[in-house]
Formats: sequence, structure tokens, C-alpha cells
Amino acid sequence: MFARSLFFTALSLGWVVVRSQVAAAEPAPIDFAHQIAPILRAHCIKCHTGAKKEGALSLNTRGELLAGGESGPAVVVGKSGESELVARLTTTDAYLRMPPAGEKSVPEEKIALVKRWIDAGLPWDEGFAFVAPAYEPPLRPRKVSLPPAVDGRTNPIDRILDRYLAERKLPRPAPIDDAAFARRAYLDLVGLLPTPAQLDEFLGDARPDRRAQLVSKLLADDMAYAEHWLTFWNDLLRNDYAGTGFITGGRKQISRWLYDALVTNMPYDQFARELIAPPSAASAGFGEGIKWRGDVSAGATVEIQFAQSVGQTFLGINLKCASCHDSFIDRWKLEESYGLAAIFATTTLEIHRCDKPIGKQAQASWLFPELRQVDATKPQPERLQQLAALMTHPENGRFTRTIVNRLWHRLMGRGIVHPTDAMQTPPWNDDLLDFLADDFAAHGYDLKHTLRLIATSEAYQSRVQTVADDAADDGEYVYAGPRARRLTAEQFVDAVWQLTGAAPTAFHAPVLRGDVDLATLAKEKLGGQWIWGSADSAKATAGETFTFRARWKLPAAPVQAVAVASCDNSYRLYINNKQAGASEDWTLVEPLVLTQLLKAGDNEILIVGTNGGRTPNAAGLYFEARARLPDGSTSVLATLAPDSSAAVDKSQSSWTCTVDKPDARGAFTKPGARKQDRDEKYQPEWKPVHEVTVNPWEKKLRNPLRAALVRGSSDVQHMVRASLVKSDFLMRSLGRPNRDQIVSVRPQELTTLEAIDLSNGSTLAEALHRGAVAIVKSKKYDGPALVDYVFRFALARSPTSDERAVAVEVLGPTPSPESVEDLLWAVLMLPEFQLVR
Ligand code: HEC
Ligand code: HEC
Repeated sequence: MFARSLFFTALSLGWVVVRSQVAAAEPAPIDFAHQIAPILRAHCIKCHTGAKKEGALSLNTRGELLAGGESGPAVVVGKSGESELVARLTTTDAYLRMPPAGEKSVPEEKIALVKRWIDAGLPWDEGFAFVAPAYEPPLRPRKVSLPPAVDGRTNPIDRILDRYLAERKLPRPAPIDDAAFARRAYLDLVGLLPTPAQLDEFLGDARPDRRAQLVSKLLADDMAYAEHWLTFWNDLLRNDYAGTGFITGGRKQISRWLYDALVTNMPYDQFARELIAPPSAASAGFGEGIKWRGDVSAGATVEIQFAQSVGQTFLGINLKCASCHDSFIDRWKLEESYGLAAIFATTTLEIHRCDKPIGKQAQASWLFPELRQVDATKPQPERLQQLAALMTHPENGRFTRTIVNRLWHRLMGRGIVHPTDAMQTPPWNDDLLDFLADDFAAHGYDLKHTLRLIATSEAYQSRVQTVADDAADDGEYVYAGPRARRLTAEQFVDAVWQLTGAAPTAFHAPVLRGDVDLATLAKEKLGGQWIWGSADSAKATAGETFTFRARWKLPAAPVQAVAVASCDNSYRLYINNKQAGASEDWTLVEPLVLTQLLKAGDNEILIVGTNGGRTPNAAGLYFEARARLPDGSTSVLATLAPDSSAAVDKSQSSWTCTVDKPDARGAFTKPGARKQDRDEKYQPEWKPVHEVTVNPWEKKLRNPLRAALVRGSSDVQHMVRASLVKSDFLMRSLGRPNRDQIVSVRPQELTTLEAIDLSNGSTLAEALHRGAVAIVKSKKYDGPALVDYVFRFALARSPTSDERAVAVEVLGPTPSPESVEDLLWAVLMLPEFQLVR
């Protein structure tokens, strides 16, 4: 700990304590729209908006309020005691008191609320204004004629921005160097730090177009790309691997569909169509939303959720407000929200205003009838198809503008329309927005195309704008380069795992990880058959359970072993009396890693398979395991019936079964025997197994089974990514949202230091410790080399001579795990590490 504090002092030159604007936890968060806006509306607005801005103070928007009036800022965010506005409410001086004499004064309890509101950081619903803005964004796409390129800056983005800057006589932001570019591009496009080797390779590339080449290379890494962008999409589609609703069945994951869509770079129009009108159950979870338990208010029904999700995700329209009453933020009306909800509804839907029925049925309709309307007389699946087609209609420019704006925000730190979910707000550059949107559609709705276009622009490759505080966002925005962004929780955790090699080996996302190509797959043959314990497996009774057994003789302990299994409906697998896997869902096939469980000699494999349903139905089990042996040969064990003609070694595969069930350790007890009389040698009566008589699974599962086997036995083991595991305390403190709600932008202000302090002793500290031990054990680095390695990996630069000197001194001649841990810790705490800049 002594060393750690020394590091802190040493590296704290240029240290910025990252602190949240929002002070200590408030009892209940302030609801601006419903608690504060009514006060201001009742007592202040008539004199402080529009043309009548008394004292030059407008309260119309948060920005205008912050801009202040004749005597300066009206509010000091976080400090009601120093705010002129509060002084004006509480003063006894009748000349200064607001509202002025003759007006109804503000009651004490309301003044107290206003103070709390200011102390809580002046929350304000995005886009809320007392006087609705006149701006209405265009619906149709627009072709932009590009200005000529200046100084050889040919990227369309630069052509547009160079003109923008020239018109305002603003300087071009300065370019960044190659190392900074590499770190930025890796983190933005695939979410990882460049390793020192990758950095060297890039810096040694003499090609003039090396940056464009790097961008293409990163985007071509389908798996890394998918596993990074999965975070963005999980937030935006509120998909997760655990949480509200998953256990009770009130919510469905779309993880596998989403992962595959990202790996294959599914065109975004098709992507949206499959979410709105799902072609299979795999993508249905988005539209079906969350079935909350108990009584739900009219604004939380699945139909209204559908309207809100579709509006927010694809159009950047917030229909939340308009699902209780006509919106005060934009033009959307209660009836329009309900119209969208009614497209999804399978029964009649009564419109509720603030939870009270207004005696009117909702009519299925969508938000932009100028493109065409949904036919309300058609059944639901057809209406969804129509909505999907209208959403992705080539004339719907709002669909394309919304997504390119999100991508711009990701890579550049601020939307062209800002906030990204208030697409009714004027863009700061409509040529830029319209160009990107039109170009995106013209390139087949290819998300990677737009990412490439942005990342290869000079604009992206320039120095970040220094922004004093977030108040800078409330005035008129002027482009001055990209903005620094905080690493997401997932980027931070991945970076720690990269640096330390401490990534977990298992993950929760039910996805088929990796990029097994079809050519490899086509050569794979499955070695087994689907079997069951009774002869007529087509009519197995509901709940029927068999325990299947095989012995697997291995000449040596395997170097690597994987298995796949599927049972309609569920199975539990035991290997040598240890549980090795289980599944309740026959459609999900995951490779099970058995390497540690198998030994030389006889291995006992037990699988308890249970049929589901309420009435007799088809049951079947498939299992196949492959072990690679030290001599390079492979041994296979797969489910087979005795009379099978399948081509694998049958001596290995004599499967038998029993109706007895083993205990949690995979052992059997004589029926009726008491625990204490357990007879270790007792064996149930084993009977032959049967090949299934009907096989509805084979066609559907052949590819997943083969792919899982190939993937599980591949030599290349990709690091597990944070996006694939459930959230934990550390990730939550670093801003990973609980995905009950759509989150399109994560908070930038985080108490990182506090967060990490809190989790000290758990996730992070443990990862650093394991990493430090591994680094010391590897004996790869002496002190100076280790310092260089860590700096180059974490920051994409070498340490300064001062930094190197202090670090080497603390590490000592032979680094110990403790001192290495301290070094890692100190570097991770640097704002330079925690930002993409
Ligand atoms: C009937 C009209 C009227 C109403 C209602 C009113 N104000 Fe004012 N306000 C004024 C006038 C006139 C001034 C300028 C003279 C002054 O500074 O006292 C002013 C000035 C102010 C200023 C100082 C601006 C500056 O920079 O000098 C603040 C702060 C303010 N008002 C807040 C409020 C608040 C908060 C409310 C509601 C609780 C409110 N006002 C309601 C007329 C009004
Ligand atoms: C769960 C239902 C619900 C939601 C969602 C909701 N409101 Fe309200 N809102 C109400 C109720 C109830 C009232 C008061 C009754 C009425 O409208 O007559 C109200 C009133 C208002 C008022 C009028 C206050 C005044 O007197 O000036 C504003 C402004 C407002 N809401 C803004 C919003 C905004 C902005 C949102 C979205 C962020 C929103 N509301 C979402 C239920 C809701």
C-alpha cells in the first residue's frame, strides 16, 4: 500500500479527479416535468419566455436558464445557496423578490423543491421547452451537393466540415499522431486496446494509407467488431443475459440473433425489419418487451412499450411522455402513441389519458402517414410487416438520420443532433447529417460503411476538443473537433483483462461465439444418433426421465476435450461423478469443455434426460464428445443405439439407460434405501437404448452442433469479452446500465475513483492480482521492460523518463506480484487510460 500511494503521487501530475455533478444520493430523484415545470409555469413563465424576457432572463430551456440574465448566471448548478434565482425567491426585499409584487407568490414547500432541484444538478427532460420550438425535422432524405475538397481533404465529411469552419473563420482542429490514432480506432471499432505488438506493427507500416488500412482491418475482424458493438446494441435494444423478467418468462433474449446479425454485418434495414416483424422467435424479444408482474399502469403495457421502443430505437423519438398525455416536448400526441401501440396489439386497445380511459379505441397507425399508412383492418403479423416496410422505406429519412447520428455520436463524442434521442432538435449541420444518412442508404444500409467513412475522415483523426464542463452543451454548439469519451464499463474491463490475462473462461451470453466458416462446417460429420430410452420415442410420456450411461476409455488424459449435447426437453450431464453441464432449452447448443474432467482409463458419462410437455410427445437426446490426445489422435464418444450403422468406433459407444435417477453427485441409491444405508456398489438395472423413431431436431440442430464442436476444439481461444458476461458490481459502477429501459447514451460523468475504491477487494483487485502473479511468473520482463510494456499497452505510448524512473524504483530489481499490482493499479487510475481521446 505504501508503494501504491507513492505511485499515485508520482503519476498524479496532470491528475484530474473525476467527480460526478450529482452529489450524494438524494432521497427521491426530482421529476422536473412534473414537480418543477408546473411551478415555473404557474409563477414565472409569462415574464421569462419568448419576447418577454424580463431582466434578459429566459427560463424556456435549461440552456437559456444557465445563460442567465442582466446580472449574470441565474443558477449555480449544484448550489442553490449561491443561485440568484433562489435569492430572488427568498429575499425579503420587495424590489427584488420574484415574482414581483402583485403576483401570486411561490409557497415555501415549492421553494424547497426548487432548491432541491438546483442541488440535484438541475435535471431537465431532454428537449423540454416551455414554448414549443417551431422546428420540425424533414422526413424525406435529401441529396447534398458536396463543396469542393480543400488541401486534398477529399473525405465528404471533411469537405462539409471544412466549409463549415471556413464560413465561421474557425481553425481546423489539429491532427493526432499515429499511436493516438491506433488507440482511438481500436477502442472505437473493436473495443480493445492495441497490444504492444499490434501497435508496433502499425507504427512500422510505411504505407501512406496505413490509417485507412487499419480501419478496414479492424472492421473486417467480424468477431471483435460484433463483441464490441454488442454492448451498444444491447443497451439500445434493452437486451441482457439476466435481470427482470427472464426468470419468470416475462421477457426473451435476442442475444443469439443479435450476435449473428453483428458478426455477419446484417444490413440495418433488414435488421430493423427483423426486430419489428420478427421472422422467427429469435428476434421477437425486442417487440414483446417486458411483461411486468402485478398491476401495470396504462403506460407500461407491452403494447405501449412496443410503441416507445420502436419510436426511440429507430426514430430517436421519445414517446414516453406521449403515452400518458400529449407530449409537452415535441409534437407527438397521445393518440399517435396509441396508434403505434395498436399495430402490435392483438385485441382492442383503449386509449388511457394519465391512466384514465377516455372512452376511445386506438386505431392502428404509424407516425408518418405521409409515406403511407398501416392497414388497421389486417391481422397483427401483417400490420407489423407493413410497419417494418414503412420504417425502412427509402423515403423515410428519419430512420437513416437517427442511426447515422448515433454512430457519429459514438465516434465523435457528440451528436449532430443532440441529444440523440431528441431527433426533433435542429442539427448543428444539416448537410453533414443528410449526407451521412443518404450515403448510408446508398451503401446498402451498411453500418460498417458509415463507421469507415467517419473513422477515415480528418475530422475523426484530429485532437479532441477540450470541454470545460457539461454546461458547454447547453449553449449553441460549435464544432471544434471530436470530444474525449470515457471508456465504457466493457472497454475498461476488457482492457484490464487484456493487460493482465485475467479474463474469465466462461460467459453468459447464449451465443455461438466465433466465426466458424461454412466451408469448415461442411466437412464436419457428426458421429452419433438421437436416442431415447423407450422404443416409441415419438410418444414419450410427459416428464418421462431416463439416465443414459456410457463408459469412455481413454489411453491418456486428453489435451483438450469438448462435448455438445441437446435433449428435448432438458438434460443434466455428469462426468466421473461431477456435474459437467445442464440445459433446459434443447435449441441452445454450447460447447462444454471437458478437458479437466476426463482422465486416462475409464470415464463414466451419465446424462439424465427428461421429456417435457403435458401430453405424450417426441423425446430425444444427442451427445457427442471429442478428446484430443497427447499423440495427436482424437477419440470420439457419441450417443448411438446398439444396432446403429453409424461410422464411429462402436466399442466406445455402448450406451445403456435406466429409469433410476442419480443424486447430485451422479451416484445411485437403491430405491427405498435410507441415506445412511447407501450401498456404494448398488447399480440400477441398465437396459439398451433406442434410436428415435421421429427426429424433428436433426435438421435444426445439425449446424449448431457441428459448429459448437469445431469452435470448442479450435486452437485459437479468443479472450472472453465483458460484453458477453452478466453485469457485476464493477461494471455497474462504471456505468453499465440495468437494461430494463432503453439506453442510447451512457452517462459521461462517473465517479470512477469511488467506484473502483468500492470494489477494491473484489473484481478488479482480484483481476489485477492474478494478472500481476502471472506476469511475474512468466519472467518475461525485468523492471524497466515491464514499465514500458504496461505503458505502451495501456496508453499507447512509452513512459516519460520521470514516470519510468519512479516506476522502476518502486518495482525494484526483481518485480514482486505486489509491486506489479501497484503499477497496474496506478496506470489504470490515470484519466489518460480511462478516456478515448
Ligand atoms: C410579472 C412579471 C414577472 C414574473 C411573473 C417573474 N419575474 Fe422575474 N423578473 C421580472 C422583471 C421585470 C425582472 C427584471 C427586474 C429585476 O431584476 O428585478 C426580473 C428579473 C428576474 C431575475 C434576475 C435576472 C437578472 O439577471 O437580473 C430572476 C433570477 C428572476 N426574475 C426570476 C424569476 C423567477 C424564478 C420567477 C418565478 C418564480 C419570476 N422571476 C417571475 C419580472 C417577472
Ligand atoms: C405515467 C404517466 C406520465 C408520464 C409517462 C408523463 N407524464 Fe407528464 N403528467 C402526468 C400527469 C398525471 C400530469 C398531470 C395531469 C394532467 O395532465 O392533467 C402530467 C402533467 C404534465 C405536465 C404539465 C405540468 C404543468 O402543469 O405545467 C407536463 C409539462 C408534463 N406532464 C411533462 C411530461 C414530460 C416531459 C414527460 C416525459 C418525460 C411526461 N410528462 C411523462 C403523467 C405522466
